[in-house]
Amino acid sequence: MNMSKKLYLETFGCQMNVSDSKKIVALMKGIGYQQTADPVEADLVLLNTCSIRATAEQRVYGHLGRFKSMKKKKPALIIGVGGCVAQQEGERLLQKAPFVNLVFGTHNLHLLQKMVSGAEQGKQSVATDFLDDEKRFDLFPHAESEGGVSRFVTVMQGCDNFCAYCIVPHVRGREISRNAAKVVEEVAALAAAGVTEVTLLGQNVNSYGFKEAGAPDFADLLRMVAQVEGIERLRFTTSHPKDISPRLIACFAEIPKLAPHIHLPAQSGSDAVLEKMNRGYTRADYLAKVRALREACPEIQFTGDMIVGFPGEDAASFEATMELIEEVQYADLFSFIYSARPGTKAAEFPDEVKRAEKQARLERLQAAQKKITLARNESFVGSVQQVLVEGPSSSGDSLFGRTGGNRGTVMDGDPALAGRLVRVRITEGVQTLLKGEILHV
Ligand code: 5AD
Ligand code: SF4
Repeated sequence: MNMSKKLYLETFGCQMNVSDSKKIVALMKGIGYQQTADPVEADLVLLNTCSIRATAEQRVYGHLGRFKSMKKKKPALIIGVGGCVAQQEGERLLQKAPFVNLVFGTHNLHLLQKMVSGAEQGKQSVATDFLDDEKRFDLFPHAESEGGVSRFVTVMQGCDNFCAYCIVPHVRGREISRNAAKVVEEVAALAAAGVTEVTLLGQNVNSYGFKEAGAPDFADLLRMVAQVEGIERLRFTTSHPKDISPRLIACFAEIPKLAPHIHLPAQSGSDAVLEKMNRGYTRADYLAKVRALREACPEIQFTGDMIVGFPGEDAASFEATMELIEEVQYADLFSFIYSARPGTKAAEFPDEVKRAEKQARLERLQAAQKKITLARNESFVGSVQQVLVEGPSSSGDSLFGRTGGNRGTVMDGDPALAGRLVRVRITEGVQTLLKGEILHV
């Protein structure tokens, strides 16, 4: 097979897209495309896109403009757009950007080889049908082993929650859980290839298995995966607070391999806003889950997501969010200004808060969180943490790893420790990471 054809792939957005991109690379290899980091030498450009906020979507059109000019000089260049913007826009994308050869939605990776081969023959194509069958997880061979210590394993996809602001249910379709035995099989294959940490991935992992009576739920799945030999640490993301069950909370007390960290997006601290967001919990419910998790696992670290400027968020509602972050003491928080997304319920809500006010709220929230993060990082000084060594630090002269609570940590040590769990005494906590020394190996 002619392997001289070159693929340039750009991935935007979340881990789900990163995971799909790995499949895309393997699929394109199957029809003779080698990946390149240099767009200039590409025969095929694929963009795996994100539409969670308007800015993410605009970025895609910006990049497309760049490839349009490249195509003027190289008319045989094939340009494809996949992922969430492709799913949302479908045919419209070809109208807006007629130089694009193919548009493939979030459920259509299995058609990609055919679509690219068609484009080589001059055919333009669009595929955005949903394929609501759990077999779609296993339509591809497992991504090839690429070394590394830590990997993501998809356990479910899609979302049925329809939070009022969110485009995910519209572009990723309904929740589908992957067969538990297949998940365990993939984790075992990764462990055999030297991976020591896996993160179970899904838009809402807590509702894993809900749709099939008698099937393992997420707590069962965690216990099954924890038994895989060679896997030393287990994580998962993302959790919806309303679906955190007592059985799942118990896992933090009972599964030693389960890392003491949970990403638990609150989105707002105000009951009125949470209700309008259709989140399915109140501030008190959220705080009760946080408390129960801390009781089960006193060292657990929380991270979260917060939206400011949601329609109807008045000054008092925003203060409730500020109070919530002080109460929870997140290790880290991702915060965003609300962005109206096409087809979502909130896009129809009157939005009276001024842009400058939203920006000011975001800045206040982020400044407060910055202090909390620093204080938390400093509070680790003197403690001993289990750190999974990932490899050299970005400066190259020390090692980088993560604590169970998912705090990035740098320390001196032998690069051969990559993949090992070591005990590290924390000597310093700065804004973005911890510093420490390895106790003994
Ligand atoms: N506007 C702003 N932020 C959003 N998020 C999801 N949809 C929107 C939107 N329309 C945020 C939520 C979510 C994170 C991945 O992105 O906080 O948890
Ligand atoms: Fe979006 Fe809500 Fe589903 Fe998360 S749970 S993906 S925020 S709709």
